[in-house]
Amino acid sequence: MPTPRTLKQSLALVLVLSASLSSTAVAQAAKPTGITPPPVQLTAEQDHQRLMDLLHITTLRPGVDHTPSLPNSVNYDELKANPYPNLPDPLLLKNGKKVTTKTTWWKQRRPEIVELFDREIYGRVPKNTPKVNWQIVNTTHETNGTYPVITKHLIGHVDNSAYPLITVNIDLTLTTPANAKGPVPVILEFSFEGYPRLKPAPPPTAAELAWKQQLLAKGWGYAILRPTTIQADDGAGLTQGIIGLVNKGQPRKPDDWGTIRAWAWGGSRVLDYLETDKSVDAKQIGVEGHSRFGKTALVAMAYDPRFVIAYVSSSGAGGAQLGRRHFGEQLENVAATREYHWMAGNYLKYAGPLYPSDLPVDSHELIALCAPRPVFIGGGAIKGDGWADAQGMFMAAVAAGPVYKLLGKNDLGTTTFPPIETPLITGDIAFRQHSGGHTAAPNWPTFLIFASRYIKDPPH
Ligand code: GCU
Repeated sequence: MPTPRTLKQSLALVLVLSASLSSTAVAQAAKPTGITPPPVQLTAEQDHQRLMDLLHITTLRPGVDHTPSLPNSVNYDELKANPYPNLPDPLLLKNGKKVTTKTTWWKQRRPEIVELFDREIYGRVPKNTPKVNWQIVNTTHETNGTYPVITKHLIGHVDNSAYPLITVNIDLTLTTPANAKGPVPVILEFSFEGYPRLKPAPPPTAAELAWKQQLLAKGWGYAILRPTTIQADDGAGLTQGIIGLVNKGQPRKPDDWGTIRAWAWGGSRVLDYLETDKSVDAKQIGVEGHSRFGKTALVAMAYDPRFVIAYVSSSGAGGAQLGRRHFGEQLENVAATREYHWMAGNYLKYAGPLYPSDLPVDSHELIALCAPRPVFIGGGAIKGDGWADAQGMFMAAVAAGPVYKLLGKNDLGTTTFPPIETPLITGDIAFRQHSGGHTAAPNWPTFLIFASRYIKDPPH
C-alpha cells in the first residue's frame, strides 16, 4: 500500500515536478524542433489572395488566353503590339541627371536599377542565406555519342540548422571531356531534365541533346542543374524550399524573393562549387536556360558577375520580353496564380491597379545589368513560339545597347527586327529568331559561334 503523503510532501513534489517541466521547456526552446511552428501550408490561390490583401489589391486584370478569337485572346499582330512605346531610360538617374561616365553607371545608376528589380520584380535575396555543402555522390566514366566523358553527380546540402523542418538538397551533374588536358570551359544549364510532371516526360529528342555534343566537340563541359530541387515551381511551395527555409516556413513579404531569383541564387551556389573543381576553368563559365529557365538564366547572369556569357532562350514574359509589349504572353498571365510565385509579390501591382507602363524598370535594363558581358537572346518563330514574343525580346536587346556602348562595348548593331534565322552576333549583345517552335535547340550552333569570340577552346 502506498504511504499516504502529507500536504507538505505533496507540495514539495509539485514544485520539483514543475521545476523539471520548465527546464524541459527551456531545453526545447534552445532546440528548434518540437516547439518550432511547422511550415504554413497554403494553396497557390490562398497565398496569391494573401499577397493581394497585403497589397490592398481587390482585383487583377486577367491574363490573355492561348486560344485565338476569344474576347481576351492573345495578340499576335505586330501593329497592336506597342501600346506603351516609351521605355524607362537605363542611363537616367533617379535625380533626373544623365549618366555619362562608367563610374556613375557602376556607382549610382546600376545600384538604382538593381534595387528596383529587387523590390518590384524578382524580389530580394535575404541578407543571410544558408551555406551549401557540396558532396560528390558518384563519378561515372561514360560516353556521350562518341565522346568519352566523366560525369560527377553532386548534391548541394543546404544548411538547415536554423529551421530543421525544411530540407533542401540541390541536384547537379557536371560532365567534362575525359581526355581533357586541363580545366575546361563549362556551360551551366538551368534544366528541365528531371522536372517533376504529372505524366512522365518523353525522353529528350536527339536534337534536344545535341548541344551537349556540340560543347564536347569544342572540348567544353556542361553542368545540369535541376532548379526545382532548390525551389518548387509552384505558389503552394513558397513556404518550403530555400525560400521557405530562410523564412522558417512562413509566407513571403511582398518584396521577398520569388522562385526565379531563388533558382538564380542556386546557380550562383553551383558556381561556388565549380570554382573549386579542378576540371573546370572557373574564369570561363557561362549560363543557359530555356523558357522559365531562360528567365532564370538572364537573372542569374544579371546578378552574378562571375558568369562570363549567357544564352537566354525563349525567356518571354518575366524574362527578356519588354513588359510593355502587347504580344504573346502578358504580365497579367505571370501575375496570376499559376506563375506569380516566379516573381516578387509586389509585381502583382502592375496587373492592377497599375499598368505595365508603370513598371519602374523594364527588361532592357535587366539585360543592361549583364553589361559589359556578352548575352545572346534567342527565340523561335511566331508559329510555335509566339507566346515568348521574339520581337519583344529583340526590342529589349536593342534598348540595352546604350549601356553596353557606355562601357566600351558594342550594341546589337541594328534597331530593325531582322528576317527570321538572321544571326546578329557581331556585337556584345546578340540575337537570333530561329524558325522552330518553343525550343532552345536550333540556336545552339549560332550561340556557340558567338561564344567562341569570348571563350577559347581548350587543347583537345
Ligand atoms: C508557360 C509560361 C511561360 C514559360 C513557359 C515555359 O508557357 O507561360 O512564361 O516560359 O511556360 O517555361 O515553358
